[in-house]
Amino acid sequence: MNFVVTIDGTAASGKSTTAIGVAERLGLFYIDSGAMYRGVALAVLRAGIDITDRHAIANLARKLKFDFKIEDGKVRVFMNGEDISNIIRGSEISELSSVIATYPEVRKVLVAMQRELTKRGNTICEGRDMGTVVFPDAAIKIYMDASLEERARRRLRDLHRKGEKVTLEEIITSLRQRDERDKTRKHSPLKPAPDAIHIDTTNLTIDAMRR
Ligand code: DC
Repeated sequence: MNFVVTIDGTAASGKSTTAIGVAERLGLFYIDSGAMYRGVALAVLRAGIDITDRHAIANLARKLKFDFKIEDGKVRVFMNGEDISNIIRGSEISELSSVIATYPEVRKVLVAMQRELTKRGNTICEGRDMGTVVFPDAAIKIYMDASLEERARRRLRDLHRKGEKVTLEEIITSLRQRDERDKTRKHSPLKPAPDAIHIDTTNLTIDAMRR
């Protein structure tokens, strides 16, 4: 039986940085479930599917295959063989993926894929419902959070590096909306598993998070 480590938490709380560091150090497979919701959002945009047509979106999701590769501390996300690592990080996809993630039809498809991916070997996965719904029997469950302002500052740095012109206020508004949507949706809302270890990363540096 392979073991699974889960990291759930709010957007920009440090989940990816931590999960990637741990995956590299311990030689674990890595799953970024958020990137899968983002990938579906990208495919929906490209196919011109109506964002409210949840059945069409679930059918489209079924045709997608995801893979993750870690190289020098960075993850490359592949969807049907295409490297989508950069295109899925923009604001439009962030917004769209958070809407798509409220559809149980789409979640069902991606949850099955996430479980399948852990059959390859010991795995660390990050997202919103990894410890609560997808892997309730995970060996270790972590729940991460940080203050809204600190998370917004981190996101701003990332987006500015990518050349997106956004302000701190815009990011605070968008993160607040996404938090609200992720936490209050009916299906698999973001919440800590009862047996999760809580980590507040507000005052932690990247190196401290990886340690
Ligand atoms: O972690 P992220 O920001 O890349 O995730 C993108 C969106 O997908 C986010 O709004 C919440 C959703 N998501 C989810 O509902 N369940 C997961 N396991 C991972 C992400």
